[in-house]
Amino acid sequence: MKPKILVCRAVFPEVIEHLAAQFDVDYNDRDAPLPPAELAARLADKVGALTLLSDRIDAATLAAAPALKAVCNVAVGHNNFDLAAITAAGVMATNTPGVLNDTTADTAWALILASARRIVGADKWVRAGQWQGWKFHDDWLGTDVHHATLGILGMGRIGQAVARRAAGFEMRVIYHNRHPLPAADEQACKANWVSKEELLREADFLVLLLPYSPAVHHIVGAAELAAMKPTAHLINVARGGIVDDGALIDALQGRRIAGAAMDVFENEPALDPRFLGLDNVVLTPHIGSSTRATRLAMARLAADNLIAALQGRRPPNLLNP
Ligand code: DGY
Repeated sequence: MKPKILVCRAVFPEVIEHLAAQFDVDYNDRDAPLPPAELAARLADKVGALTLLSDRIDAATLAAAPALKAVCNVAVGHNNFDLAAITAAGVMATNTPGVLNDTTADTAWALILASARRIVGADKWVRAGQWQGWKFHDDWLGTDVHHATLGILGMGRIGQAVARRAAGFEMRVIYHNRHPLPAADEQACKANWVSKEELLREADFLVLLLPYSPAVHHIVGAAELAAMKPTAHLINVARGGIVDDGALIDALQGRRIAGAAMDVFENEPALDPRFLGLDNVVLTPHIGSSTRATRLAMARLAADNLIAALQGRRPPNLLNP
């Protein structure tokens, strides 16, 4: 008899086929999360699970899954895991770092440019038939990205990929992390460590790339937004909850910063409706890693982690000690 696993949400048929060669796969083939009670019920007899960021795995879920040996997230972020509870239950947890760095960095750049050059609003305006003719001092004057200062809060693998792309725009790149990068990595992405205060004060474009944990909840709130330049743009491609969305809406309404581009939100997909009335924010539906190639690579890597864990090998992306 093959070991039983749960794939919690629709991924790709080729990944299911790969897993089905060695496991008895219970597959939720809808691209929607299982309600928590159904998730717990379907995990009851499983030894492994391929989870998505919408699947909360905590002490309550684990209590309902006594045979579980591994939970493998198809995401680099893993704030849907209560890692302490998972570790205490003797279950392995994995994520998918690396394979989405470039795609997510590209998304950050798409949002930087869209916010600076007001691309989304201009597109809507043209479609609404409001374009009466070319103007010199037009309604769509934007902000230059080239030669500006790019600030990155959270300089991990994705932050460094964002920084490397800034060279083409001849930007000055500054970043803040708890610890500066090794000198060779700083040189590779031509970035300098600064204090968080300096980062907020100096950045023309502030890109957030921190992993979420309660320690960074609302790390960008009213005080931080007030410390930014009134001409600055804030870009969040990390996780909802890092920014205090209410404080951001106030800052955008009061034009205390020039613009924002948000790919992630507190309580997504139920974003604060006041966002929808703002003309200085670009809103996207958590698409940071969303290309076919990258999502497939993430699903394959998660499957590899699950196979290794259930074959008694150390999974390549083990999160718990
Ligand atoms: C991640 O991997 O954490 C992204 O947010 C989802 O692709």
